[in-house]
Amino acid sequence: MILLFGGDGQVGREMVRASAARATPLVALSRTQADITDAAAIAEAIQRHGPSIVINAAGYTKVDLAETEPEAAHQANAIGPGLLAAACARAGVPLIHISTDFVFDGEKQGAYLEGDKIGPINSYGRSKADGEQAVRDATPLHVIVRTSWVYGEFGTNFLKTMLGLAATRDELRVVADQHGCPTSTPDLANALLTVAPQLLGGKGIWGTYHFAGSGVTTWHGFASRIVAAQAPLTGRTPRVTAITTAEFPRRARPPANSALDCSLIARVFGVRARPWTEETDAITRRLVGAQIGKESHVA
Ligand SMILES: NC(=O)c1ccc[n+]([C@@H]2O[C@H](COP(=O)([O-])OP(=O)(O)OC[C@H]3O[C@@H](n4cnc5c(N)ncnc54)[C@H](OP(=O)(O)O)[C@@H]3O)[C@@H](O)[C@H]2O)c1
Repeated sequence: MILLFGGDGQVGREMVRASAARATPLVALSRTQADITDAAAIAEAIQRHGPSIVINAAGYTKVDLAETEPEAAHQANAIGPGLLAAACARAGVPLIHISTDFVFDGEKQGAYLEGDKIGPINSYGRSKADGEQAVRDATPLHVIVRTSWVYGEFGTNFLKTMLGLAATRDELRVVADQHGCPTSTPDLANALLTVAPQLLGGKGIWGTYHFAGSGVTTWHGFASRIVAAQAPLTGRTPRVTAITTAEFPRRARPPANSALDCSLIARVFGVRARPWTEETDAITRRLVGAQIGKESHVA
């Protein structure tokens, strides 16, 4: 049985759906049920459920707010994962922990490999880098999965923000000089649920892996695809204008390039993401279709 922490987040909720679809036994705990910064709550949850594997999808993900709340980010992204990993080590249970492309500085030309030097340039990235190290220090039985630009049907994310803007604005101004790999929550959930049983069979190799949607784009490219996918359903065709990072100041400086090379996880565990374009189209259609269905039901 898989015990999932952070069960109420966008990744957590997709994991719940995906595990049910595969009939994989999984218990998901929300933050109120188990706060990962509370060692006693973690120990109690592990003792009560007796998992064969633990997955950590909990985290502080407000990238800009982390600049002014570094301690909150550090608690959830570094202290919590360290406590969780230590509890897993005591129980002899493997841990899969989710990390981020934001551990890199974004200066590399080309996609990042797992062995590339990390160098976070914002508070969120530093907290996640510290979390990775805390996991490594606490238990050898870990797999850290770095992912990027996550979107899906649950929670809040870039795709849903763009759909909201496309419904009301005639122009969307979107940054075109940051490169990365949009990753759908169904692809990520599938990857985690495919890796997990292989660890139990002793087939996998412990360590750090990259997993992200196939293909690289910019936020502008991502937004353009979302707008194109919703247009036939909504009739809305707002202009998507390319702007620079300098024209869209944020509190947290994002890496200019955070594309992830995902060939290692494909070789070791046989998981490969679908093209981000296909997933973006599919999720956009599902979200817009559901919204139209809701509106016609009300009318
Ligand atoms: N979103 C992205 O684009 C992205 C990119 C790369 C990596 N990641 C990583 O992917 C993982 C999942 O992210 P997500 O997108 O699913 O984020 P999310 O939607 O914000 O979900 C995170 C969940 O963690 C919970 N949480 C926060 N602090 C906690 C604590 N101390 N104890 C237990 N639960 C806690 C949150 O609860 P509350 O809502 O109550 O705070 C929320 O339900 C995170 O590790 C994140 O760093 C995300």
